[in-house]
Amino acid sequence: MRKKKQEGFLAHGDFVYRHDPIPVFVKAKGVYLEDTDGYRYFDAEAANGTVSLGFDSSILEEARKIQKNLPSIPSFCETEIRKKVAGKIGKMMLQITKKKGRIAFELGGAQGMELAIKIVRSNTKKTQLVVFEGGYHGRSAYTSQLSASHRYRKIMGDWRIPIARLPYPDFEQTYPGLSTDEARAIAIKQVERLLSTETAGLAIRSGEQDISALIIEPILNAGGIVMPDKKYLETVVKMFRKAGALIVVDEIFCGFYRTGKMFGFQHYTISPDIVVMSKAITNGIAPLSCVWGRDPYMLSAKFPPGTHSATYINNPGTLAIADVVLDRYQKWETKEKDIKKLERSLHDIIQKIVQSSALVKSGYSIGGIGRILLTENIAGNILDIALTIGRKNPIKGVHGLILASTGMAPNVIALNPPLNINTADVEILRKLLSQTFKVAETKYSVVSESS
Ligand SMILES: Cc1ncc(COP(=O)(O)O)c(C=O)c1O
Repeated sequence: MRKKKQEGFLAHGDFVYRHDPIPVFVKAKGVYLEDTDGYRYFDAEAANGTVSLGFDSSILEEARKIQKNLPSIPSFCETEIRKKVAGKIGKMMLQITKKKGRIAFELGGAQGMELAIKIVRSNTKKTQLVVFEGGYHGRSAYTSQLSASHRYRKIMGDWRIPIARLPYPDFEQTYPGLSTDEARAIAIKQVERLLSTETAGLAIRSGEQDISALIIEPILNAGGIVMPDKKYLETVVKMFRKAGALIVVDEIFCGFYRTGKMFGFQHYTISPDIVVMSKAITNGIAPLSCVWGRDPYMLSAKFPPGTHSATYINNPGTLAIADVVLDRYQKWETKEKDIKKLERSLHDIIQKIVQSSALVKSGYSIGGIGRILLTENIAGNILDIALTIGRKNPIKGVHGLILASTGMAPNVIALNPPLNINTADVEILRKLLSQTFKVAETKYSVVSESS
C-alpha cells in the first residue's frame, strides 16, 4: 500500500487523498490549474464537469457587483435575486418542456435529489423508487441508498429505502457480443417482469404496482459514462409512466450543455415531471442546486410553505453567481455548434487511442463528455500516470493531465473538460493523453495480454 502523507488536521474520508502525489492548487484559468510547486495541469475533469465555462474569475467579479447590494439573509426571507434566477430557469424550462412549473433551490446535487423525492412522495403517496443499475444520485445518507454501489450504502447499516434497480444500460458491457436490438429486447423483458410479477418485487399479487418514481440520469456519470440506448430509455419511461410513477430526471451532471444540449433528456423523446440540476449552475464557484417540478407537483396544495427548509438554500450571494452564469450561457450564441465541434475533437482523440492502445477496448463522445473503456480495471492507475505525465518534458508548458474515473466503473476513464476550450487546448489534450497511454502501455500491457 502506498504511504500517504498525513496533512495536519484534515480527515481523509473524502477523495482528496486517493492518489499520489497530492497537488495543492493555487491558480486556475481557462482549462488550466497550477499547484504550489508551479506545475501546470490540463483539467480534463473540470470539477466533475462543473466548471463548464472554464476557470473564469470574471464570473465572480461580475457577481460581486450584484452581491455588493444584496442582503445576507436566511432562506425564509424573499429576495429579488431569488425571484430573478427562478424566473430565468422557469422560462427556460417552459420553452424546453412546454410545461409550466415551479422551482425550489437547494445546496448541492444530493440535497436536490432528496428534495425531489420529498416532492414525489407528497404527490404520489406511493412507496418504491426505481433507478438504473450503475445510477449515481449522491452520497448523502438518503441518496447513497439510490446510488448503485453497495459500498456507498453499507455504511448506513440496515436502514433501507425501497429501491429497485433496472438492468444496467451499458449494453456493451452487460451483453457483450449482442446487437443493440438483441440487448434491448432482453433488458426490456427484464423490466416487464419486474413490473408485472410479485416475485420480482415491484408489483403486488393483483398485478398493481406501488411505485412512486423512476429516477434516471440521461447519461450515467459515475456508472461509467453510459449513454442508454434511446429506445430502451424511452420504452422504460413509457412503462413506468403507465405504472403511475413520476419521472425524475437527474440533470446534475448532464445539464447546462454538458451533452451538447441544455439538458441530457433532450436527446430522448421523454417528458420529465421533475428535473434536478446543480454542478454547472454556478460554474463550480458556489454550491447550489435547483429542483423544477411541472405543475401541479410543486404548487402549494402538494408543496405548502414549511415543507422544506435549510438556512443557506436561498443564499443571495450564491444566486447572484447563478444569475451571471445563466447570462453567460444565454450570450454564448454559438454554444451548440462549438460543443458539437468539441464532441468531434474528443471523438478523434479517443478513436486514435482505441486504435493504438491494447489497453483500450472502445470509446465515444457525447457533447463535452468522453468515455474510454479499458480492457482492465486500471483507470485509477492511468489517472496517476496522467497527473505527472509532463513533469520531465512539459507539453506546451503543461506538466500533468487531470482525468476522471469512478470506483463503480474502474475500467472507464471519463473526460469532462470545460465546454469552451479552444483548438490549441484540444491539441494539448491530445498530446497529453496520447503520451499517458504510451507510458501506460509499457507498464500494463503485459497484464492485458496475459488476461
Ligand atoms: C448524476 C449525479 N447526481 C447526483 C450527484 C451528486 O451531486 P453532489 O456531489 O453535488 O451531491 C452527482 C455528482 O457527481 C451526479 O453526477
